[in-house]
Amino acid sequence: MTTTEPRTEQEILDRESMDDVDAIAAFNPDPDEVLHAVQDQADALFTWDYSKGSRPRLDKLYEKAKVSQWNAQTDLDWSIEVDPLQAFSIFTESSNVGTGHWTEHPDSPAKNWGDKEWDQFSIESFAWRLSQFKHGEQGALLCTAKIVETVPWIDAKYYAATQVVDEARHVEVFEKYIDEKIGVRYPVNPHLQLLLDDIINDSRWDMTYLGMQIMVEGLALAAFGLMHQVTTEPLLKKLLRYVMSDEARHVAFGVLSLQEVYQDMTAKEVRERQEFAFEAGIRMRDRLLQQEVWDRMGCDVKKAVEHGLNIPEDDQIFNQLLFSKIVPNCRKLGLLDAGDGWLREKYTEIGVIELEHLDETGEEYSEVSIEDDELASSTNQ
Ligand SMILES: [Fe+2]
Ligand SMILES: [Fe+2]
Repeated sequence: MTTTEPRTEQEILDRESMDDVDAIAAFNPDPDEVLHAVQDQADALFTWDYSKGSRPRLDKLYEKAKVSQWNAQTDLDWSIEVDPLQAFSIFTESSNVGTGHWTEHPDSPAKNWGDKEWDQFSIESFAWRLSQFKHGEQGALLCTAKIVETVPWIDAKYYAATQVVDEARHVEVFEKYIDEKIGVRYPVNPHLQLLLDDIINDSRWDMTYLGMQIMVEGLALAAFGLMHQVTTEPLLKKLLRYVMSDEARHVAFGVLSLQEVYQDMTAKEVRERQEFAFEAGIRMRDRLLQQEVWDRMGCDVKKAVEHGLNIPEDDQIFNQLLFSKIVPNCRKLGLLDAGDGWLREKYTEIGVIELEHLDETGEEYSEVSIEDDELASSTNQ
C-alpha cells in the first residue's frame, strides 16, 4: 500500500466516487466461508531492550490492564431472560433508521411498513449490530496479536499482550449473547471486512494501531456507549459496561503510542496516514448503512443504500456520535491539519468535523474503568 504520490479519493477507496451506490451495496462475495485468509506482510520484531517502564504511560496502562480482567462466563448473570425487542429499539436516539426519513419519506423502502415489519427490523438490526461488534472484536484480536509481534517497544508488547486476552473475551461474550439470547446472526459486513483486511495486510506497524486502535475501536467505544445508554436489559448493560472499560484502555494505547511515532514522520508519511484515516472513515460510514438487514427484510438494497446516503442533516446525529472518539483523537495526533489540512476537508465533507473538540481518549480510560471493588465484588458472587 506504499505510495509515492498522494492518491486520489477514487484510488484510496477503489471505486468511482465516495457515494458509489453499486460499490457500497455489494455483498460479501462468499457469505458461507468459514476461514478467511489475509496476507500479513509485517516483520516480527524481537527487542533485546527489556527496560520495563521506559514508556511510563504505556507501563501504567499495562499495570491497569492486569488488574482489570473479568470473566465472561462467571462475572455476568447468564440466567437473565432476554426479549430482543425490548432489549433494543431502533426508535431511540441510538439509531439512524427510526426517523421520518425511513418511516414516511416516499423514497423509503420501508414507507409502507406496519408495526410487525418494524418490530422485525428492530430485532434484525439489533442482531446485525451485535454480529458486527463480534466480527470487529475478532479483527481486534488478530490486530493486537500482530502488534505484539511488530511493535519495537517492550512496554507496548506487554500491554498489547493484555489486549489480546481482552479481545478474546470480547469475541467470546458477544458470541455467547448472540447465541443464547438472540439466535439471529449475520456474516461480517463487506465494508468492515475490507477495512480489517487492509489493516492486517499493511506492513507498517503503526498502521495497525491507526486502523484498529483509533478508527475501529474508536467507533466501537462510541457505539457501545450509545447502546449502553439506551438499553434497559440488565445483562447487555453490564456486558457493555465491562467491554467499554477495556475498550477505553485500548483506544488510549493507540493515542499514546502514535503520538510518539508521528512526531518524527515526514510530510509524505503523515499524508499516507491521513489517507488511511479517511478510507477507514468511509468504510465505517458505509458499514452503518446495514445493507444486509435491508436485504433480509426483502427490500431493494441499492435503493436502501441510496436513501441512507441521502439522510437529512438533522438526522445525522447518530452517525456523528459514532465518530465522537475518532475525530478528537485524529486531531490530538495532528492528522486533521497536517500538510494542507486534507483530512480536515474530508471529515468536513462527511459531516463529522464538528466533533473535533470533544474529549480525546488518551487519558479518558480511567473514567470508564470498572472500579477495583466493583470487579472484586462481582468476581466473588
Ligand atoms: Fe474489544
Ligand atoms: Fe478493543
